Amino acid sequence: MREDWIQPILDEAKSNGLERNARVFPETGGKIKVDGKEVLNFSSNDYLDLARHRHVMDCAREALDQYGIGSTASRLVTGTLPIHEELETRLAKEKGYESSLVFGSGYMANAGTIPVLAGRDDLIFADKLVHASMIDACKLSGARLVRFAHNDVLALEKRLEQYADGSGRKLVITESVFSMDGDIAPLADIAALAEKHEAMLMVDEAHSTGTFGPHGAGLVREHGLENSVTVSMGTMSKAMAGYGGFVACSEKLRNLLVHSSRAFIYTTAPPPAVIGAALGIMDVLEASPRLGNILQANADYFRSLLHATDLDTLQSQSQIIPIVIGDNEKAVAVSQKLREQGIIAAAIRPPTVPSGSARLRLSITLAHHVDDLEHAANLIVDAVKT
Ligand SMILES: Cc1ncc(COP(=O)(O)O)c(C=O)c1O
Repeated sequence: MREDWIQPILDEAKSNGLERNARVFPETGGKIKVDGKEVLNFSSNDYLDLARHRHVMDCAREALDQYGIGSTASRLVTGTLPIHEELETRLAKEKGYESSLVFGSGYMANAGTIPVLAGRDDLIFADKLVHASMIDACKLSGARLVRFAHNDVLALEKRLEQYADGSGRKLVITESVFSMDGDIAPLADIAALAEKHEAMLMVDEAHSTGTFGPHGAGLVREHGLENSVTVSMGTMSKAMAGYGGFVACSEKLRNLLVHSSRAFIYTTAPPPAVIGAALGIMDVLEASPRLGNILQANADYFRSLLHATDLDTLQSQSQIIPIVIGDNEKAVAVSQKLREQGIIAAAIRPPTVPSGSARLRLSITLAHHVDDLEHAANLIVDAVKT
């Protein structure tokens, strides 16, 4: 077997403090039991604490009972079930778009949409910190990729002006809540620039879906930008607590995606239980429209506790709160110390974040009560500062 090249790569990652392991956890959620002890988990994306919600689990079970475990074919063959269409109709309505299309995951929604919007003769302007799934999608598209400084509207304007004479389509891509910094894009300004330069705009709302906006419809909806944002992408894997991704867009674009998106066509339709769960989540968001507000108030409070001791949380304005440590090994050591004290706060290292900015990435969820936040803040400050 020709595998002698593998070990040196793994050894080098280890010697740079960049070893990666998929550790096993016995439970999901913001508060879990490990070896019989309660642990506060600040690394779960189940922001609204809905993964074990009774109604959501009942909806998943109903879909499982009615349709079985799989959709058994691609969406374009016989895999599209009534619940796929029902979910797409409800997502479109909540997001304020004509239409929506569900994909197997958020990664696939990006990988399946960006290459349809832009190809070899086109330009994509991407914020420096957009998620790896967007970058991979740009590479897949074959379009020329132009990066602009993070959340910097002037930098984007310069880039758009620099390429103003270019022929071909232009696409600007950003996130509404950034996955590793927890900060928020100046969406209205970016939308105005995109419009001025006749560029399409796609916003990844993976971390604002469920957590911001009316009924958790996200920040594009909250700011009334549906007409200027060509595609609002979302996931069912974060605040929606399940799995799958989607885009909200015009009916015309949906038709084109159905016609030509490879990540939509050449894969099996998402399984019934996953779609049933997402419909259950939509019911919960409709019935409890303030969940996102409560989450953000708790995140504000937690940030204030950290700021009172001078800890730097970058420009975080959401439920995602980074604490930058810098050194890879120190970040892992702090995370490990906290783990021993009953706090899970994953160390995120390059290449997921820029070199020299290894950090703890904390996710506040509705499973964390005020006394949990106070307890965790004390331990975190102590672990980071000593
Ligand atoms: C900003 C962003 N976009 C897309 C994705 C991919 O979503 P999913 O986990 O549903 O594949 C993620 C999740 O890691 C994300 O953080």
